[in-house]
Amino acid sequence: MIDRYGREIRYLRLSVTELCNLRCRYCMPEDGVCKKRHEEMLTQEEMLSAIRAAASLGIQKLRLTGGEPLVKPNIVSLCEGAAQTPGIREICLTTNGLLLPRLAKDLRAAGVKRLNISLDTLDPEKYHYITRRGSLEDALKGIEAALAAGFEKIKLNTVLIGGFNDGEIRPLAELTKRYPVDLRFIELMPMYDSGDFGPEAFIPYTVVTDTLPELEPLPADGSVAKLYRLPGAQGRVGLISPVSAHFCASCNRIRITADGKIKPCLHSPDELSIKGLTEEEMVQVLRRAILEKPQWHGELSYKERSHANRNMNQIGG
Ligand code: 5AD
Ligand code: SF4
Repeated sequence: MIDRYGREIRYLRLSVTELCNLRCRYCMPEDGVCKKRHEEMLTQEEMLSAIRAAASLGIQKLRLTGGEPLVKPNIVSLCEGAAQTPGIREICLTTNGLLLPRLAKDLRAAGVKRLNISLDTLDPEKYHYITRRGSLEDALKGIEAALAAGFEKIKLNTVLIGGFNDGEIRPLAELTKRYPVDLRFIELMPMYDSGDFGPEAFIPYTVVTDTLPELEPLPADGSVAKLYRLPGAQGRVGLISPVSAHFCASCNRIRITADGKIKPCLHSPDELSIKGLTEEEMVQVLRRAILEKPQWHGELSYKERSHANRNMNQIGG
């Protein structure tokens, strides 16, 4: 479906749970989430109805996010159901990777084609610090399991944080030499409660091109990343700049949260509920949400924080 600004909305991001086995400092508070009542969350059947409703409006690509989607007990069967939805051509999943040694093969068999795996640092102590509890070794085992399971594409996501990992830009980017993966640096977004970070943490994507002058630019591939390659590398380096150079004009996505709210824009407080609706009613509300999608997300900076009114684990990035 085409929105009021001529953007063809083809991509649904569905957050399947707010829960997570980590507590990344830019994403959620230390004490986790105030666990919502089970009845408030979408059931698996409602999620599958929402996916079918979205597909009937022209959604072709589905990304399952969280929280951490792999902590959801029925994640594999949800992927299987989604893969059988007519119109859905591609299912992708964003994960912190920790549970991939157990689940990678089943997810691949269920029809997941692509994985994005979070990796903000290669230093074990820093990994434990930024995730407030995780082990780098486990994350790397997850990446290995994903590589062995034969996904069509694996991308590593690094949130670029001044004073934390800006000294690791080179070793992180060089993972694209060692493995057939893309690595994307994502500018830190000033969310509602990512309050641990001072102004120095919010650095623009250009620090990556300044640090790696040998990066060769590649043509855009329709994604939101500016693409490059290190000479001789197997994978690409992508730069994603929601803050310093927003890409709202080409935004083709819509989001649904685990508690059944359609978010026409990541950084807007506007939400439309689909909890408890029939599939036909969901189609109507989704149509309205697409028509209400704002032109851009408004100013974002250390001072001008996101108006989303939710933390990232409650939206799905
Ligand atoms: N800024 C940028 N990216 C974020 N993510 C979560 N919170 C933020 C934030 N404040 C992204 C990370 C992670 C994914 C789950 O969401 O890339 O890999
Ligand atoms: Fe969990 Fe991902 Fe948020 Fe980290 S960024 S706390 S892994 S949902």
